[in-house]
Amino acid sequence: MEVVIMAGPAEVGDFAAGRIAELVSTRPEAVLGVATGSSPLETYRSLAARRDAGLDLSRVSAFALDEYVGIRHDHPESYHAVIDREVVQPLGLDPARVHVPDGLADDLDAACEDYEAQIAAAGGVDLQLLGIGENGHIGFNEPTSSLSSRTRVKTLAPSTREANARFFDSAEEVPLHCLTQGLGTILDARRALLVAQGASKARAIAEIVEGPVSSRWPGSVLQLHRRATVVVDEAAASRLQLAEYYRYTVEHRRIVQPGA
Ligand code: GLP
Repeated sequence: MEVVIMAGPAEVGDFAAGRIAELVSTRPEAVLGVATGSSPLETYRSLAARRDAGLDLSRVSAFALDEYVGIRHDHPESYHAVIDREVVQPLGLDPARVHVPDGLADDLDAACEDYEAQIAAAGGVDLQLLGIGENGHIGFNEPTSSLSSRTRVKTLAPSTREANARFFDSAEEVPLHCLTQGLGTILDARRALLVAQGASKARAIAEIVEGPVSSRWPGSVLQLHRRATVVVDEAAASRLQLAEYYRYTVEHRRIVQPGA
Protein backbone atom coordinates (compact mmCIF):
# COMPACT_ATOMS: atom_id res chain seq x y z
CA MET A 1 0.00 0.00 0.00
CA GLU A 2 1.30 3.42 -0.94
CA VAL A 3 0.68 6.02 1.77
CA VAL A 4 1.08 9.69 0.86
CA ILE A 5 0.84 12.41 3.50
CA MET A 6 0.04 15.89 2.22
CA ALA A 7 -0.18 19.19 4.12
CA GLY A 8 -3.93 19.78 3.95
CA PRO A 9 -7.22 18.92 2.23
CA ALA A 10 -6.52 20.94 -0.93
CA GLU A 11 -3.15 19.21 -1.43
CA VAL A 12 -4.78 15.80 -0.94
CA GLY A 13 -7.33 16.64 -3.63
CA ASP A 14 -4.68 17.96 -5.98
CA PHE A 15 -2.53 14.86 -5.60
CA ALA A 16 -5.47 12.52 -6.22
CA ALA A 17 -6.64 14.59 -9.19
CA GLY A 18 -3.11 14.40 -10.60
CA ARG A 19 -3.23 10.60 -10.51
CA ILE A 20 -6.62 10.58 -12.27
CA ALA A 21 -5.46 13.14 -14.84
CA GLU A 22 -2.38 11.02 -15.60
CA LEU A 23 -4.60 8.00 -16.23
CA VAL A 24 -7.07 9.89 -18.43
CA SER A 25 -4.25 11.50 -20.43
CA THR A 26 -2.95 8.08 -21.39
CA ARG A 27 -6.37 6.44 -21.61
CA PRO A 28 -9.11 8.95 -22.55
CA GLU A 29 -11.77 6.22 -22.31
CA ALA A 30 -10.77 5.21 -18.79
CA VAL A 31 -13.37 3.75 -16.46
CA LEU A 32 -13.42 5.59 -13.15
CA GLY A 33 -15.07 4.51 -9.93
CA VAL A 34 -16.43 7.62 -8.24
CA ALA A 35 -17.37 8.26 -4.64
CA THR A 36 -19.78 10.60 -2.89
CA GLY A 37 -19.34 12.27 0.51
CA SER A 38 -17.18 15.26 1.37
CA SER A 39 -13.80 13.50 1.11
CA PRO A 40 -13.46 13.50 -2.71
CA LEU A 41 -14.82 17.04 -3.23
CA GLU A 42 -11.34 18.63 -3.35
CA THR A 43 -10.33 16.00 -5.88
CA TYR A 44 -13.28 16.90 -8.10
CA ARG A 45 -12.50 20.60 -7.66
CA SER A 46 -8.92 20.07 -8.80
CA LEU A 47 -10.08 17.93 -11.73
CA ALA A 48 -12.53 20.68 -12.76
CA ALA A 49 -9.63 23.16 -12.75
CA ARG A 50 -7.58 20.77 -14.89
CA ARG A 51 -10.55 20.48 -17.24
CA ASP A 52 -10.55 24.30 -17.57
CA ALA A 53 -6.86 23.97 -18.43
CA GLY A 54 -7.62 21.48 -21.22
CA LEU A 55 -8.06 18.01 -19.67
CA ASP A 56 -10.78 16.21 -21.64
CA LEU A 57 -12.90 13.89 -19.53
CA SER A 58 -15.78 13.58 -21.98
CA ARG A 59 -14.96 10.00 -23.01
CA VAL A 60 -14.47 8.71 -19.47
CA SER A 61 -17.02 6.26 -18.06
CA ALA A 62 -17.89 6.34 -14.38
CA PHE A 63 -19.47 3.98 -11.88
CA ALA A 64 -20.67 5.26 -8.52
CA LEU A 65 -20.02 3.16 -5.45
CA ASP A 66 -23.44 3.27 -3.91
CA GLU A 67 -26.95 4.70 -3.67
CA TYR A 68 -29.65 4.95 -1.03
CA VAL A 69 -32.69 2.73 -1.37
CA GLY A 70 -36.03 4.42 -1.86
CA ILE A 71 -35.20 8.04 -2.54
CA ARG A 72 -36.11 9.58 -5.86
CA HIS A 73 -33.26 10.20 -8.26
CA ASP A 74 -34.15 13.89 -8.32
CA HIS A 75 -33.93 14.19 -4.51
CA PRO A 76 -30.93 16.51 -4.03
CA GLU A 77 -29.23 14.01 -1.68
CA SER A 78 -29.77 10.91 -3.79
CA TYR A 79 -26.40 9.81 -5.08
CA HIS A 80 -27.79 10.11 -8.62
CA ALA A 81 -28.21 13.84 -7.93
CA VAL A 82 -24.94 14.20 -6.00
CA ILE A 83 -22.89 12.50 -8.72
CA ASP A 84 -24.55 14.66 -11.35
CA ARG A 85 -23.92 17.88 -9.36
CA GLU A 86 -20.42 17.19 -8.03
CA VAL A 87 -18.94 15.06 -10.78
CA VAL A 88 -20.78 14.93 -14.12
CA GLN A 89 -21.43 18.67 -14.52
CA PRO A 90 -18.16 20.16 -13.25
CA LEU A 91 -15.97 17.56 -14.97
CA GLY A 92 -17.91 17.53 -18.23
CA LEU A 93 -18.56 13.78 -18.21
CA ASP A 94 -21.01 12.32 -20.71
CA PRO A 95 -24.14 11.43 -18.62
CA ALA A 96 -24.74 8.41 -20.88
CA ARG A 97 -21.45 6.92 -19.62
CA VAL A 98 -22.17 7.50 -15.92
CA HIS A 99 -23.76 4.75 -13.84
CA VAL A 100 -25.26 4.78 -10.36
CA PRO A 101 -26.93 1.76 -8.70
CA ASP A 102 -30.73 1.89 -8.93
CA GLY A 103 -32.10 2.18 -5.41
CA LEU A 104 -35.63 2.50 -6.78
CA ALA A 105 -35.69 -0.82 -8.63
CA ASP A 106 -38.63 -3.13 -7.92
CA ASP A 107 -36.15 -5.98 -7.68
CA LEU A 108 -33.14 -4.63 -5.80
CA ASP A 109 -31.17 -7.88 -5.92
CA ALA A 110 -31.55 -7.98 -9.70
CA ALA A 111 -30.45 -4.32 -9.88
CA CYS A 112 -27.28 -5.24 -7.94
CA GLU A 113 -26.50 -8.12 -10.30
CA ASP A 114 -27.17 -5.89 -13.26
CA TYR A 115 -24.75 -3.29 -11.86
CA GLU A 116 -21.98 -5.87 -11.59
CA ALA A 117 -22.72 -6.90 -15.19
CA GLN A 118 -22.51 -3.27 -16.36
CA ILE A 119 -19.09 -2.86 -14.71
CA ALA A 120 -17.88 -6.06 -16.34
CA ALA A 121 -19.27 -4.99 -19.74
CA ALA A 122 -17.31 -1.73 -19.47
CA GLY A 123 -14.14 -3.78 -19.00
CA GLY A 124 -13.86 -3.24 -15.25
CA VAL A 125 -12.86 -0.14 -13.30
CA ASP A 126 -9.41 1.32 -14.05
CA LEU A 127 -9.23 3.51 -10.96
CA GLN A 128 -11.57 3.53 -7.99
CA LEU A 129 -11.65 6.75 -5.98
CA LEU A 130 -12.73 6.21 -2.37
CA GLY A 131 -13.46 8.16 0.77
CA ILE A 132 -13.74 6.50 4.16
CA GLY A 133 -16.27 6.65 6.97
CA GLU A 134 -15.22 7.19 10.58
CA ASN A 135 -16.10 3.55 11.23
CA GLY A 136 -13.84 2.45 8.38
CA HIS A 137 -16.54 1.86 5.77
CA ILE A 138 -15.73 2.23 2.09
CA GLY A 139 -18.68 2.64 -0.24
CA PHE A 140 -21.38 1.68 2.23
CA ASN A 141 -19.63 -1.51 3.32
CA GLU A 142 -20.21 -1.22 7.02
CA PRO A 143 -18.12 -3.06 9.63
CA THR A 144 -18.33 -6.87 9.28
CA SER A 145 -19.05 -6.64 5.54
CA SER A 146 -17.75 -9.76 3.86
CA LEU A 147 -14.31 -9.12 2.43
CA SER A 148 -15.33 -10.71 -0.86
CA SER A 149 -18.81 -9.17 -1.05
CA ARG A 150 -20.31 -7.99 -4.34
CA THR A 151 -22.85 -5.23 -5.04
CA ARG A 152 -25.81 -5.83 -2.74
CA VAL A 153 -28.37 -4.32 -0.39
CA LYS A 154 -27.00 -3.24 2.98
CA THR A 155 -28.50 -1.76 6.13
CA LEU A 156 -26.78 1.48 7.09
CA ALA A 157 -25.18 1.55 10.54
CA PRO A 158 -26.89 4.00 12.95
CA SER A 159 -23.61 5.95 13.16
CA THR A 160 -23.52 6.32 9.36
CA ARG A 161 -27.10 7.55 9.32
CA GLU A 162 -26.19 10.08 12.00
CA ALA A 163 -23.08 11.17 10.11
CA ASN A 164 -25.12 11.64 6.92
CA ALA A 165 -27.99 13.41 8.73
CA ARG A 166 -26.18 16.66 7.96
CA PHE A 167 -27.32 16.30 4.34
CA PHE A 168 -30.96 15.80 5.32
CA ASP A 169 -33.41 17.64 7.59
CA SER A 170 -33.11 14.96 10.29
CA ALA A 171 -31.41 11.61 10.99
CA GLU A 172 -34.77 9.84 10.54
CA GLU A 173 -34.92 11.07 6.97
CA VAL A 174 -31.67 9.27 6.05
CA PRO A 175 -32.70 6.04 4.31
CA LEU A 176 -32.17 2.82 6.26
CA HIS A 177 -30.90 0.82 3.31
CA CYS A 178 -28.56 1.26 0.40
CA LEU A 179 -27.09 -0.56 -2.56
CA THR A 180 -23.31 -0.64 -2.49
CA GLN A 181 -20.53 -2.19 -4.49
CA GLY A 182 -19.03 -4.92 -2.35
CA LEU A 183 -15.50 -5.06 -0.99
CA GLY A 184 -14.77 -7.74 -3.58
CA THR A 185 -16.11 -5.44 -6.32
CA ILE A 186 -13.85 -2.63 -5.11
CA LEU A 187 -10.83 -4.96 -4.98
CA ASP A 188 -11.39 -5.79 -8.66
CA ALA A 189 -10.60 -2.21 -9.70
CA ARG A 190 -7.15 -2.06 -11.29
CA ARG A 191 -6.16 0.78 -8.97
CA ALA A 192 -7.63 2.05 -5.72
CA LEU A 193 -7.13 5.63 -4.53
CA LEU A 194 -8.49 6.52 -1.10
CA VAL A 195 -8.54 10.10 0.15
CA ALA A 196 -9.12 11.24 3.74
CA GLN A 197 -8.85 14.55 5.49
CA GLY A 198 -9.28 15.73 9.06
CA ALA A 199 -8.75 14.38 12.56
CA SER A 200 -12.12 12.60 12.59
CA LYS A 201 -10.67 10.10 10.07
CA ALA A 202 -7.35 9.54 11.90
CA ARG A 203 -8.47 6.40 13.76
CA ALA A 204 -9.98 4.78 10.65
CA ILE A 205 -6.85 5.55 8.64
CA ALA A 206 -4.56 4.07 11.30
CA GLU A 207 -6.73 0.94 11.49
CA ILE A 208 -6.97 0.33 7.75
CA VAL A 209 -3.33 1.09 6.96
CA GLU A 210 -1.55 -0.39 9.98
CA GLY A 211 -4.11 -2.67 11.63
CA PRO A 212 -4.94 -6.24 10.66
CA VAL A 213 -7.02 -6.98 7.56
CA SER A 214 -10.41 -7.32 9.14
CA SER A 215 -14.04 -6.75 8.28
CA ARG A 216 -14.20 -4.80 11.57
CA TRP A 217 -12.49 -1.98 9.59
CA PRO A 218 -13.67 -2.67 6.04
CA GLY A 219 -11.17 -0.31 4.36
CA SER A 220 -8.38 -2.58 5.61
CA VAL A 221 -9.28 -4.87 2.68
CA LEU A 222 -7.21 -2.48 0.54
CA GLN A 223 -4.11 -4.11 2.07
CA LEU A 224 -4.97 -7.01 -0.25
CA HIS A 225 -5.04 -4.78 -3.32
CA ARG A 226 -2.04 -4.78 -5.65
CA ARG A 227 -2.12 -1.06 -6.37
CA ALA A 228 -3.76 0.82 -3.54
CA THR A 229 -2.82 4.38 -2.62
CA VAL A 230 -4.02 6.17 0.51
CA VAL A 231 -3.67 9.96 0.41
CA VAL A 232 -4.21 11.77 3.69
CA ASP A 233 -3.64 15.20 5.16
CA GLU A 234 -1.58 15.72 8.32
CA ALA A 235 -4.67 15.58 10.55
CA ALA A 236 -5.90 12.27 9.10
CA ALA A 237 -2.33 10.93 9.34
CA SER A 238 -1.94 11.91 12.98
CA ARG A 239 -2.39 8.37 14.37
CA LEU A 240 -0.15 6.58 11.88
CA GLN A 241 2.79 5.02 13.70
CA LEU A 242 4.93 4.76 10.58
CA ALA A 243 4.29 8.27 9.24
CA GLU A 244 8.01 9.05 9.01
CA TYR A 245 8.56 5.89 6.98
CA TYR A 246 5.80 6.86 4.52
CA ARG A 247 7.36 10.30 4.06
CA TYR A 248 10.75 8.67 3.53
CA THR A 249 9.42 6.29 0.86
CA VAL A 250 7.68 9.11 -1.01
CA GLU A 251 10.89 11.15 -0.88
CA HIS A 252 12.92 8.24 -2.23
CA ARG A 253 10.37 6.87 -4.66
CA ARG A 254 12.11 4.88 -7.35
CA ILE A 255 11.68 6.32 -10.80
CA VAL A 256 11.68 3.36 -13.15
CA GLN A 257 13.31 4.17 -16.45
CA PRO A 258 12.10 2.14 -19.43
CA GLY A 259 14.72 -0.49 -20.22
CA ALA A 260 16.62 0.14 -16.99
C1 GLP B 1 -20.53 8.11 2.77
C2 GLP B 1 -20.26 7.34 1.46
C3 GLP B 1 -18.83 6.88 1.38
C4 GLP B 1 -17.96 7.95 1.98
C5 GLP B 1 -18.18 8.03 3.47
C6 GLP B 1 -17.48 9.17 4.16
O1 GLP B 1 -21.72 7.90 3.36
N1 GLP B 1 -21.14 6.26 1.15
O2 GLP B 1 -18.50 6.59 0.02
O3 GLP B 1 -16.60 7.67 1.76
O4 GLP B 1 -19.54 7.95 3.79
O5 GLP B 1 -18.13 10.39 3.94
P1 GLP B 1 -17.40 11.77 4.05
O6 GLP B 1 -16.40 11.80 2.96
O7 GLP B 1 -18.49 12.79 3.84
O8 GLP B 1 -16.79 11.84 5.40
